[in-house]
Parts: sequence; structure tokens; C-alpha cells
Amino acid sequence: MTGSTPTPQELLTIAIDVARKAADTAYRMRGEGVVVAATKSTRTDVVTAADRAVERQVLDALATLRPDDPVLGEEYGEENGGGATGPTGGGVRWIVDPIDGTVNYLYGLPHCAVSLAAEVDGVVVAGVVRNVFTGEEWTATVGGGAWRAGQRLRCSTETDLGQALVATGFGYDAARRSHQARVVAGLIGHVRDIRRLGAAALDLCLAAEGRVDAYFEKGLAAWDQAAGGLVASEAGLRVAGLRGRPAGPDLVLAAPEALFAPLHDRLDDLDAAGGP
Ligand code: IPD
Ligand code: CA
Repeated sequence: MTGSTPTPQELLTIAIDVARKAADTAYRMRGEGVVVAATKSTRTDVVTAADRAVERQVLDALATLRPDDPVLGEEYGEENGGGATGPTGGGVRWIVDPIDGTVNYLYGLPHCAVSLAAEVDGVVVAGVVRNVFTGEEWTATVGGGAWRAGQRLRCSTETDLGQALVATGFGYDAARRSHQARVVAGLIGHVRDIRRLGAAALDLCLAAEGRVDAYFEKGLAAWDQAAGGLVASEAGLRVAGLRGRPAGPDLVLAAPEALFAPLHDRLDDLDAAGGP
């Protein structure tokens, strides 16, 4: 693989190997008890010793397997690898969330995941999301579909927003959460129901197989979105922001084609991408 850019499938093979071992570490450390190491953006935005240990393990593994590739991670930021490649320089960049759903992890709720994606030239081309507790594992490569347990995934075929089960999430900042709650209050009367499960990467993967019909959230970071976003789009969901913008920190909306416009318009009316 040295010299030329690996294929998405080659990158996925590396990602799966690294993510499985990382998930094993997270699971083992949960069994040994959770240590809150620090808080980040707010008092409720915790980082556990496991978040750091798992990300360090991923960084070390990638440094061995792909020493020239930069890695962007939630806990340690950008690590630049050994070379001069970058997201726009023809090289590979990895994006890792060591534990997505840290609050679930803290409380022992079996809904959190290791998320690892590979970008080439700034475009996510491979990704894996692995539930730390259940071992459920979603994978995708660009153009190669989304998969779990050997099955190719397709999103929901629901066409009626009023029948749609919609997942969402809330940020850690109190003012942002209040705005997000107002958006949900304005939406809940127009959909089947709302789910707030606590791990954005898993929300996107559940949408990929129709276990929820759609998902939206404001404030996601690259590590929340990268792997799960590819899984969702490869399963047929449209993954975008509002008003023609790409999915990003303002808003990630993942919906089957038939639900995208009605949900988009409702969220736009509710200023879901606005607020603090
Ligand atoms: C959080 C989870 C949560 C979402 C938040 C994320 P973390 O990630 O994905 O579901 O609502 O926006 O920050 O902090 O558990 O890695
Ligand atoms: Ca995290």
C-alpha cells in the first residue's frame, strides 16, 4: 500500500481492525469501573479515562500501520503523522471518536460506539462504527454500500412525515439545549415520535437500516459525523444541511429522499440550524 493511495476497501480493512480492538478496550475498561478524567465544554460534558485510553490506542495503532497519515480525534485533536500529507494533499486522514455516547458509557447504558473514518482528499471514503457493548458493527465504503453482519443496508421507505420516527440529539451547552428542545417541541406533533438515544454515530447507523426513519442534530463535530454519515448516505439517506448547505456543525439532516423535503422545511421553519 505504500506509495499510492489505498483503496477505500483497504482503508476499511484497517479501520475495522483498529476499531474492534479499540471497542474491546472500551468494554474492558467499563467493566473495571468508569473514571471521569475531566470535563470539557460544560460540567456535563465529561471525558473518561477510557475516552483517552481508547483514542491513544487508535493513534498508536494507526501510527504503526499508516505512519504518514494525520489523525483527527475528539480527545487529542489533530495528530499529524510522519508525513506532509493532509486532507487536501492527496493523502489519507483518519477521524476518530473513541467513544461516541460518553454519557451512556458513564451510566452503563449499552449504546455507545467507537467511530473511525478515513478521508482521502477531504472526502470520507471508508468508515466503521462499532457498538462497544453489543458488538454490532456498521461499515461503509464510498460507492460500496453500507453493511452490518453481512447484510447490505437500505434506509426506511417511509414517505409520510407523520409516520416517521425521528432521532435527534442535544449539545452540552445549556442555551443550545434549550433551543434544540424548542425545535423538538415544534416537531413532535408532526412526526410519529422522537428518539434521543445518546450517540450520534449510532443514530446515523440506525437510520441506515430503518430502525429510525430519519435523524437530525445541530452542533455535531467531524468525529461524530464522519463514519456514521457515510454509512447513512451509502444506505440511501440524503445527508445534508439546510438550504443546500452540506451537513456540518450547523445541522446534519439524514433522511430518506421522500422525507427529506418535508422534514427539511419543518426544521427550517423552526430555525433548527440557528440559535446558540
Ligand atoms: C455526543 C453524542 C450525542 C450527541 C452530542 C455528541 P459524545 O457525543 O453523540 O448523542 O447528541 O451532540 O456530542 O460527547 O458522547 O462523544
Ligand atoms: Ca466522544
